[in-house]
Amino acid sequence: MSLFEPVRLGRMELANRMVMAPMTRSRADQAGVPTPSMATYYAQRASAGLILTEGTQPSLLGQGHPATPGIHTDAQVAGWRSVTDAVHGAGGRIFNQIQHSGRVSHPSVHGLTPVAPSAVRADGQIFTPQGPQDYVEPRALTTSEVEEVVAEFARAAGRAIEAGFDGVELHGAMGFLLHQFLAANTNQRSDAYGGSVQGRIRFVVEVVEAVAAAIGADRVGLRISPAKPINDIAEGDTLELYAALLAALAPLGLAHLHLVAAAEEEVNDKIRAAWPGALIVNPLNSFPQAPEDGGRGNAEEWLRRGADLIAFGRGFLANPDLPARFRTGAPLNALNPEGLYGGGDAGYIDYPVLGDSAA
Ligand SMILES: Cc1cc2nc3c(=O)[nH]c(=O)nc-3n(C[C@H](O)[C@H](O)[C@H](O)COP(=O)(O)O)c2cc1C
Repeated sequence: MSLFEPVRLGRMELANRMVMAPMTRSRADQAGVPTPSMATYYAQRASAGLILTEGTQPSLLGQGHPATPGIHTDAQVAGWRSVTDAVHGAGGRIFNQIQHSGRVSHPSVHGLTPVAPSAVRADGQIFTPQGPQDYVEPRALTTSEVEEVVAEFARAAGRAIEAGFDGVELHGAMGFLLHQFLAANTNQRSDAYGGSVQGRIRFVVEVVEAVAAAIGADRVGLRISPAKPINDIAEGDTLELYAALLAALAPLGLAHLHLVAAAEEEVNDKIRAAWPGALIVNPLNSFPQAPEDGGRGNAEEWLRRGADLIAFGRGFLANPDLPARFRTGAPLNALNPEGLYGGGDAGYIDYPVLGDSAA
């Protein structure tokens, strides 16, 4: 199998198996409305088989970092419509990644106390409009508030479709709210949404089901990052947890599962074996230094090991025309650390493509 073969994902036939991984770039305006530069940025990358947008908050309280976009106001939906029109006009396909940050947030971002499954403060600091600050203790959601957040995800997904997206990816990875419910160290609840593995998967399963009911399961994907301690997450019982989660989700007929590969091969292999549908894998690459081959070697290896599609983050960030560069063996642009998170158009929409005089 090759990266350049078409593949079916939900109701779409994708031109190739190269997915642009979700990447927060913090270019939305003060009201979380996508800016014209964002339409340019995503349209430049439309040769990906599928684009996954940066994490997008389903509510004000769901915002984690400054200048991230939302998908809960009319103005945000209109802003995203310009993005999806530009991507579709360039022949691309695009899913909106819906991210509720939960405790990985700060009052200086939205003026509110962050919420989480339990009042457990994350270790470390978060980047805020005033610079890095310690995390605060979040407020535990009440049971009825948990149910409201489930509905909030379904509403956001409906609005994403209204904005012209081909579907949504729910961010269940990297220690954000869905992951906080899954993990034992962040979920110390005593109601039906905590405790045993069956209790801890309940919120994620209900969110996926509600979103699938709202927009159709074949337009819904889920991203997971098992066994990764990022954002101070400790699952405790990774294999049992994801076995139960995937057993509950497998019958739904989702568009995709998106696995951020674990360092432990056993975890990856068990997830591939347990998932009957399309599997996007984001391979384990060197960090923070991006791999010199743009991740191509790891991608080919993963296609041999059972991935259906491969997600590339920094490869697409620095190379808008990554598929053409891989096809032709052209050299790759280096990642510019300037403007990675926030800033103007430098380091955002000025990466050259093949054929540019600058390339
Ligand atoms: C600037 C930047 C922002 C990111 N933001 C997100 C995000 O919003 N949502 C998400 O799921 N992952 C996010 N990630 C993680 C990437 O999707 C991806 O997992 C990571 O870059 C590793 O893939 P790579 O080696 O191909 O770059 C981000 C990564 C980078 C470099």
